[in-house]
Amino acid sequence: MSNNEFIALCGLDAVADGAIGAGDLPDGRRVAVYLVQGEVYATDDRCTHGNSSLTEDGCLDGHIVECAMHLGTFDVRTGAAVGPPCTKALRTYPVQIRDGQVVLSAAALAGELQA
Ligand code: FES
Repeated sequence: MSNNEFIALCGLDAVADGAIGAGDLPDGRRVAVYLVQGEVYATDDRCTHGNSSLTEDGCLDGHIVECAMHLGTFDVRTGAAVGPPCTKALRTYPVQIRDGQVVLSAAALAGELQA
């Protein structure tokens, strides 16, 4: 579901209880969606170390997502790599909750893609 203003990534139910949600951008890239202490966050799905999928195999513990492939970790708030072997940050996306959906502002995405 998308419109001119917002791109819906996934339902809030998909990120309940520490689950990692998956959403797709218009260009086909997958993003990982997290809910921590009532706040939603989104990052690229693919680990920057070895391209493993965080939505398929990642594990969320607080604000830290761990990649199952080599156990590298990232802070979902900033995308920063916080545990080896990961050294390069994940791209993050500004998301919010609207009508039970985690959504991304299309304008913010456009600006981010130009950056
Ligand atoms: S592929 Fe993610 S830590 Fe290596």
